[in-house]
Amino acid sequence: FEKMLLHVEVNGVKHSLMVEPRVTLLDLLREQLDLTGTKKGCDHGQCGACTVHVDGHRVNSCLTLGVMVNDKKITTIEGLAKGDQLHPMQEAFLKHDGFQCGYCTPGQIMSAVACIREGHANSEGEIREYMSGNICRCGAYPNIVNAIQEVKD
Ligand code: FES
Repeated sequence: FEKMLLHVEVNGVKHSLMVEPRVTLLDLLREQLDLTGTKKGCDHGQCGACTVHVDGHRVNSCLTLGVMVNDKKITTIEGLAKGDQLHPMQEAFLKHDGFQCGYCTPGQIMSAVACIREGHANSEGEIREYMSGNICRCGAYPNIVNAIQEVKD
């Protein structure tokens, strides 16, 4: 495949990259930009481990081609903290034990931030519905809901 020029801003840093049109945003982040905080679980849209924000909206980066994000702003888990200051959602996950093995956590946190931003954190049921695309094999769901509710309040 012929490579295409892609302009993208990731966590506030602008990049111009040559990418093959078949490369997913997930592989672009992990392999070309070395941003390995975004995880690959299933690689076909079922687990949510690869969740990032594109222009503020959450997406599964494994279902998004890199060339689809030309001129867009991407935020990954690496972009949430401000220096040493964790994002409130990261603090809440720590406080409420919102993870065990931690593999799904970057995706959970990116979805959790979007859940509140998009106004879907008004009840436990609403949070669970919004977060239902993020699978946690350890079963930390109640703690994740508690973390989201704390940040919302
Ligand atoms: Fe993208 Fe599982 S790796 S949804």
